Amino acid sequence: MRVLVVGGAGYIGSVTVDQLVASGHAVTVIDSLVGGHTSALNPECEFTQGDIRDEAVLGRLFAAHTFDAVINYGGYIQAGESVQQPGRYFANNVAGAIDLLNAMVTYDVKRFVFSSSAAVYGEPESVPIAEDAPLRPVNPYGESKLMVERMLPWYESRFGLHSVSLRYFNAAGATEERGEDHRPETHLIPNVLQVPLGKSESLALYGTDYPTRDGTCVRDYIHVSDLAAAHLLALDYSEKGSGVFNLANGVGFTNREVIESARRVTDHPIPVSEGPRRPGDPAELVASNERARAELGWSIEFDELDAIVGSAWRWHQSHPDGYQD
Ligand SMILES: NC(=O)c1ccc[n+]([C@@H]2O[C@H](COP(=O)([O-])OP(=O)(O)OC[C@H]3O[C@@H](n4cnc5c(N)ncnc54)[C@H](O)[C@@H]3O)[C@@H](O)[C@H]2O)c1
Repeated sequence: MRVLVVGGAGYIGSVTVDQLVASGHAVTVIDSLVGGHTSALNPECEFTQGDIRDEAVLGRLFAAHTFDAVINYGGYIQAGESVQQPGRYFANNVAGAIDLLNAMVTYDVKRFVFSSSAAVYGEPESVPIAEDAPLRPVNPYGESKLMVERMLPWYESRFGLHSVSLRYFNAAGATEERGEDHRPETHLIPNVLQVPLGKSESLALYGTDYPTRDGTCVRDYIHVSDLAAAHLLALDYSEKGSGVFNLANGVGFTNREVIESARRVTDHPIPVSEGPRRPGDPAELVASNERARAELGWSIEFDELDAIVGSAWRWHQSHPDGYQD
């Protein structure tokens, strides 16, 4: 298959591109590099630097190739920032997806895999969260993902465009070559590892009075290789139909458990400075992955927290300043 990967120079996209190339697919990446890194790109993929909202760039790309499928990782990713700058998030995450879908229609490409998010659920009424739980985003980032999800059935009914929306929980970990390098970094595991790397003195821990087993938030961490593998299964699935799937471990870990894991893996004390809760942080976000297992045939390789944190630690040790571009 020839697959167009939007955002293939980013964290999850770059690992997916590696798996697609290793499976024998031809891969074209378009990435604006607003959050990606050229050194994260697999050398065997074809790369265009550009924004999917640039009609001329997108038109040239689709005219020059016959794509069998498109995977869209492109977008802004910070929920907190989206509250301050909603227009920026809707412009990139929603309008960008519309431009992409319209190009797919023009060039008769019928298979689409979309990076959605746990953020479409907002504050869950109960855990584990299943796909039919209420969809009530609490920030423009989550709303932008839900708006795209809601457009997709209309493209299917009019144009026969099949889509698979994958709602990721907390992507984490690394492969030997690719790791997490967001600037700024808002995710817990890479921030914890800044301490043993000598880049920060302590970790700021927000909220120690949640109704959880140790008072800190519980999150569901899923290894980036397991996430990437689900995209290859979703591509197969999109040949016949459309669907929405949680990509989650199904097991939650508290912030303190993640810090303990990092202490074990790095053999460093990792001091913590405790602060108050941040607004909008739910106590517990853990999802059911039953549907993805049953319908996509997905299985999880990394179900141990230390294995996930250990893989991230190895990558950060070999890339102490992140990607060099
Ligand atoms: N990391 C997570 O835990 C997580 C969780 C849920 C959902 N997601 C979603 O998964 C996707 C990938 O996340 P990530 O952590 O790899 O983020 P990332 O920022 O590393 O990757 C996104 C990539 O998209 C590119 N991009 C952004 N806007 C673009 C545009 N208009 N045109 C072309 N390229 C553009 C960026 O340069 C970047 O390389 C995002 O859509 C994110 O919302 C991530």
